[in-house]
Amino acid sequence: MTADDEIIYLDNNATTQLDPAVIEEMLPFLTKYYGNPSNGYAFAARARKAVDLARGRLAALVGCAPSEIVLTSGGTESNNAVIHSALQFEPHGKHVVTSAVEHSAVLRPYQDLEKHGCAVMFLGVDRHGNVDLAELEAAIRPETALVSMMWANNETGVLFPVEKIAEICRQKGVLFHTDAVQAVGKIPIRLRDMAINFLSLSAHKFHGPKGVGALYVNRRTRFNPLIAGGGQENGRRGGTENVAGIAGLGKAAELAVKYLEERKCSIRSMRDRFEKAILESTGGTSVNGAGALRIPNTSSLSFEGIESPAALILLDRHGLCCSAGSACKTGSQEASHVLRAMNPNGDGARRSLRFSFGRFNSEAEVDHAIELVPRVIGKLRQMPAPAPVATAL
Ligand SMILES: Cc1ncc(COP(=O)(O)O)c(C=O)c1O
Repeated sequence: MTADDEIIYLDNNATTQLDPAVIEEMLPFLTKYYGNPSNGYAFAARARKAVDLARGRLAALVGCAPSEIVLTSGGTESNNAVIHSALQFEPHGKHVVTSAVEHSAVLRPYQDLEKHGCAVMFLGVDRHGNVDLAELEAAIRPETALVSMMWANNETGVLFPVEKIAEICRQKGVLFHTDAVQAVGKIPIRLRDMAINFLSLSAHKFHGPKGVGALYVNRRTRFNPLIAGGGQENGRRGGTENVAGIAGLGKAAELAVKYLEERKCSIRSMRDRFEKAILESTGGTSVNGAGALRIPNTSSLSFEGIESPAALILLDRHGLCCSAGSACKTGSQEASHVLRAMNPNGDGARRSLRFSFGRFNSEAEVDHAIELVPRVIGKLRQMPAPAPVATAL
């Protein structure tokens, strides 16, 4: 076992370390200023101001008006809220379009809709993880209620051309939603220049707290709340606000703006250095999504002759945290649906590892990973293949 302080955390797409400044921002609202933002007295105004400040900071990060931000419990809620809302307003729009490589927080609600008679088109991707825009355009029908295409893939980091997709949807008069949970804080985003109707984001992916996020709803887009209640969030999301979490989200957004302006290349250079070194030292390795544009922090590598669950166990013993696919799938034996969509006939989905970097990683940690990963892969390749499981007749 490894002491917690000795781990090398290369799983920043699963979640990120809280920035100390974020914790500092949250603490007063967990201790001193516990008022309910909906109350009218001065004490509660402290909490209300914190929520307003956070909303403004988040709006600055994604380039929209503060009034277009609906605060939620995170990416999963935001995705569910959009899908729920779009179909409420289009009772005849029994058709939606999405991609086969979305996060389960989009796939699952769409699969549930399918069970209730909605036609869902899951667009495939090519071997690099790219979507075909002509295919997308052809998939949109007059009765299509919503198109959901993620901005950055959580497993491979592949970026979809969201600006072009938004424009296609605008021309066709269809609502467009993007799950940008893995893009926000990692690449610059200016929603006021784009034809996006809805965007989902989550604080814990950019050094904010878990259980808090937001949904951008374009000011001209109708929205029907998923959670009805006491009229909070201008009637768009009921429930007493998670003030400390929201304050943390706002601080994380402010720091992300600063980070994107000042040091946007350092994570990319760590990722690229790691990837290049592993490709050079470890034959039979390839980069999933190498032929596509990717977010700067993600490296999804496929290693011939290994099984990813075994690799994860060995790397964990050496204190290195990474994933086989998305965090939600880790622990299940199910191979990544993203990698299967990219290569349906190959076995890359069973032998891939995702390394994702963040701003708290150091060059020394990258050096350590560059030394450790080839050693672990080499060891696994020398092990005899597991015997096939006997099937009872
Ligand atoms: C692309 C994507 N969408 C949605 C989510 C869910 O976000 P949350 O954990 O805030 O519910 C995740 C989290 O892994 C994600 O990577």
